[in-house]
Amino acid sequence: MSATNQASWQRGRVVSIDPAADAIARIVLALDTPVRAEPGSHVDVRLDTGEVRSYSLVSAGADGRTVTLGVHLSPTSRGGSRFMHALRPGDELDVTAPLQNFPLRIGAPRYVLLAGGIGITAISAMGTALKGVGADYRLVYVARTRSAAAFLSELAGLHGDRLELHIDDEGTGLDVGTLVGGVDARTELYMCGPIRLMDAVRRAWVDRELPLPNLRYETFGNSGWFDAEEFVVKVPDLGVETTVGTDESLLDALERAGVDMMFDCRKGECGLCQVGIAAVDGTVDHRDVFYSEEQKTAATKLCACVSRVVRRPGAPAVPGTVTLAVH
Ligand code: FES
Repeated sequence: MSATNQASWQRGRVVSIDPAADAIARIVLALDTPVRAEPGSHVDVRLDTGEVRSYSLVSAGADGRTVTLGVHLSPTSRGGSRFMHALRPGDELDVTAPLQNFPLRIGAPRYVLLAGGIGITAISAMGTALKGVGADYRLVYVARTRSAAAFLSELAGLHGDRLELHIDDEGTGLDVGTLVGGVDARTELYMCGPIRLMDAVRRAWVDRELPLPNLRYETFGNSGWFDAEEFVVKVPDLGVETTVGTDESLLDALERAGVDMMFDCRKGECGLCQVGIAAVDGTVDHRDVFYSEEQKTAATKLCACVSRVVRRPGAPAVPGTVTLAVH
């Protein structure tokens, strides 16, 4: 069982914590040891519970001694965002040097950067870097409301008319078909946002037969096709039956019940946490980007770190139930 990849830990001290948008905090940390932060990198932080969470680096100070994070207070928080939002200046916590699993390749003829909601935290530094090297890019930023769009004034100031804003409740929501329809085969598209948005872009990308290596993404694995609801998980071979609350993942619930789980990313990307489904009463809400569409439809496995089960339509009083197989 592992949670990070070769991370080097140090102490970080909270310099400031301010609202960046509705339910999003801008947190600046001072670090004992200077770091080198590349676009697309993130840091892991250790919570008061000892658990580890990953947060994208919005920016880093020129001397590498400060890093800025943007943290969304999730209504289904497993404890991470609640802990982060409760930090106050002067508080200390364990934090890693920047880790990279969403690298930006410099040198493409054109770029589209697509951020949905809090996904801007993973995309923002890419925009800064592309601006810095004089690249041809567009930064497409999608949000439900203007007040939920973090870092908007800084982004507008930096990117000018290269920033393309889509606000759902202002009637300017993103048309994915138009976005992908305007991309040519040499454009690289980097995206981070809700699963629904990224799924729609991936489907349009495949339909247009654009080169798959030019589509790169990072997911937070915290949004699905259905609202999160309680469901029951059973593992008959281990004598386990427990309820998965709306504020925890299936992986959390299985660990709480004493099941020894494997995991790494906890974001629906690596597949290490996958479990076999023996039976399901309800619908599996696949929230990962690990499985293909065919595998998701077959629903013989799911990624326990992000995916959930919802009740059958027409059975509002009966929670969804998934029975897992142990191989
Ligand atoms: S831990 Fe990586 S997909 Fe679940």
